[in-house]
Amino acid sequence: MNSDQEQPYRFFGTQEEGINGVRSAVFDNAPIGVFDSGFGGLTVAREIMKALPNESITYFGDTLHCPYGPRSLEEVQGFVDAICTWLMDRKVKMIVIACNTATAAGLAFAQTKFPVPVIGVVEPGARAAARATRNRRVGVIATKGTVESGVYTDAIRNIDAGITVFSTATPRFVEIAEMGLRMAKGPIESYTSLASQVYIRPEFQEIAQDYLDPLRRCDVDTLVLGCTHFPLLKSLIGGVMGRDVVLISSAAEVARDCVDVLTRQGICAEQGHEPIYEFFTSSEDLDDFRRFGERVLRFPLDDLQHIVL
Ligand code: DGL
Repeated sequence: MNSDQEQPYRFFGTQEEGINGVRSAVFDNAPIGVFDSGFGGLTVAREIMKALPNESITYFGDTLHCPYGPRSLEEVQGFVDAICTWLMDRKVKMIVIACNTATAAGLAFAQTKFPVPVIGVVEPGARAAARATRNRRVGVIATKGTVESGVYTDAIRNIDAGITVFSTATPRFVEIAEMGLRMAKGPIESYTSLASQVYIRPEFQEIAQDYLDPLRRCDVDTLVLGCTHFPLLKSLIGGVMGRDVVLISSAAEVARDCVDVLTRQGICAEQGHEPIYEFFTSSEDLDDFRRFGERVLRFPLDDLQHIVL
């Protein structure tokens, strides 16, 4: 076998580019598969759409099994397996696990089992936090499953072992995000902005204070929103933590990783390719999913289907 046959892609440009692992521009218009336990991952999908406007996306929200947070990691890994298998049947070229709990439970498993690149949301968030902290004291709020897995602590301390990580499970934030969202109207931006504090009812504030006061006392200067629902509560969380604490959401960082992976693998969609966005949910309430999705994405979710895996 000569070297051309051994190499599935042709390196382009100089040899240095090949050595750095950048593949030649072989186009692939297949979709990127993105999934979450429900709505939250749409905030990640939105950033991918912005960063990669030619890429098609197949999104699955496992609303039937949401929340993943209180379930065992074994059970969540089973969901990851079923969803990735289904996405592979739909011929995706890459998979983004847009859920922290599912990343904690099943990223390594999925990367080992499936023959396409699979990325999660924990490592990108950890990287952004390690970059942002000045006093090397980082807080992480996430679901019980994510906190107990220790993935954020490991990922942050793999980057800088001198960082002290304080993690706390804030399960009621998932509930508050969903409830607040149903109460609020208009585009998601106004819901998440500081001006949207109208929806924050006193009991939400009290719950947030109970969860976050211990972290404030730990003097963290950076807080990872380690659940895809939490960016929706930015004004509530930021209000309690104070202006000096940087809030980290991994969505934009994940989109940058997608660009990097597709470019390095040489599997970007062609310039000018008209992307196709398909949405699937395991919930029977398509209207609920559509209402939320349209507020996040700002376009009609015409192609939304119910599917049970
Ligand atoms: N989307 C999940 C995450 O990022 C949170 C909601 C759930 O518990 O399913 O961890």
